[in-house]
Amino acid sequence: MKVLLIGSGGREHALAWKLAQSPELTTLYAAPGNPGIAEHATLVPVNTEDNDAVVSFCKDNAIDFVVVGPEAPLVAGVADRLRAEGFAVFGPSAAAAQLEGSKGFTKDICARYDIPTGAYQRFNNAPKAKAYIREQGAPIVVKADGLAAGKGVTVAMTVDEALAAVDDCFEGAFGAAGAEVVVEAYLDGEEASFFCLSDGKHALALATAQDHKRVGEGDTGPNTGGMGAYSPAPVMTPEMVERTMKEIIEPTMRGMAESGYPFSGVFFAGLMITRKGPELIEYNVRFGDPECQVLMMRLKSDLLPILYATATGTLDKVTAEWSDDPALTVVMASKGYPGSYDKNTPIKSIPEAGKGAKVFHAGTALKDGALVATGGRVLNVTATGKTVGEAQARAYVLLDKVEWGNGFCRRDIGWQAIKREKA
Ligand SMILES: Nc1ncnc2c1ncn2[C@@H]1O[C@H](COP(=O)(O)OP(=O)(O)O)[C@@H](O)[C@H]1O
Ligand SMILES: [Mg+2]
Repeated sequence: MKVLLIGSGGREHALAWKLAQSPELTTLYAAPGNPGIAEHATLVPVNTEDNDAVVSFCKDNAIDFVVVGPEAPLVAGVADRLRAEGFAVFGPSAAAAQLEGSKGFTKDICARYDIPTGAYQRFNNAPKAKAYIREQGAPIVVKADGLAAGKGVTVAMTVDEALAAVDDCFEGAFGAAGAEVVVEAYLDGEEASFFCLSDGKHALALATAQDHKRVGEGDTGPNTGGMGAYSPAPVMTPEMVERTMKEIIEPTMRGMAESGYPFSGVFFAGLMITRKGPELIEYNVRFGDPECQVLMMRLKSDLLPILYATATGTLDKVTAEWSDDPALTVVMASKGYPGSYDKNTPIKSIPEAGKGAKVFHAGTALKDGALVATGGRVLNVTATGKTVGEAQARAYVLLDKVEWGNGFCRRDIGWQAIKREKA
């Protein structure tokens, strides 16, 4: 099978690494890719923001299957265009990608199909949103409706903070994404991520993970795209997984199909495990980054036929086998991230990872033949172990051999799970 992978982050390096192990693969192309992905794929300079360019490349190269990594091309309709031309695609239509592209859309699906989530209202003007917040009181959560690069949500502990967040949204802090606002009830509990494939009619549960969004140790400081993750999430017991499938995933899949937007791709459900059980915080419609890296380390099955079955409506014919060993990834970022940081700093050396370990590339590039850091999040040092504690120890041993002067990381990735292991 000739496959095109779209994307250039650590998530796509993990997907490329796993796809390249498939006996069904003949050629893997990646657009635009990165130097890590280039170990497993031929990089092609296709503009992935241009759906016509992607379609032309697939026609010219007789591509059999397209795997879309990030959300932006999905929201921009790349899967629709490719499907209309007869290509098999892993990733939802633009209409179904609204599950990630509009928080209000998702909340309405939850309301219509009785999916557990915080009570909410949608607003298109500040005075009504503020009146609702005053009526509800704090804590309360204010969200820009659209894609806001992980910056559009305020978990407000006071009414004043929530009112200020409403002003930010309507004054344009998040551009068009803030033209509508969702105000929702605060959910108290432990957060976890749940990944599940859907071909529109069948669902296949994958695995669970937890991530660290804050830049600082002890989960402090500003939010980032994610500083590390591990899988599985101890809070997601088999009972919680079963309830999540029954109470959240299956009604969503049915609701999307009934609403005229059958969902094909990966449901990445952000959950809060509250006293009542799993409640939905949000959906993403692609794999998490860096959660994908730990999922791919634990997946024993061939990824390619699983993704292809998702794209072709035959998900009931495949299964996914997982290693019981936890996997953990530590993100190395450029000093200054998530604020401003120097670009093109040299990465002198990346250690050879042994079995059960891998250094994935995110924001790297080759400049005059030398590896440099070009992004905020740059490398994902990943390892497995018999426990999260062992996976963490192995990841940091590997990470300490990376020679990159401008890099930093958190030293406590996995602390919650490790605390449980010690208890
Ligand atoms: N209703 C809620 N109650 C408590 N915390 C919430 C709630 N909604 C969101 N959060 C917190 O805010 C974070 C970001 O919200 P989310 O809806 O996932 O937005 P995004 O990932 O698009 O920025 C969540 O990971 C969670 O920690
Ligand atoms: Mg989120």
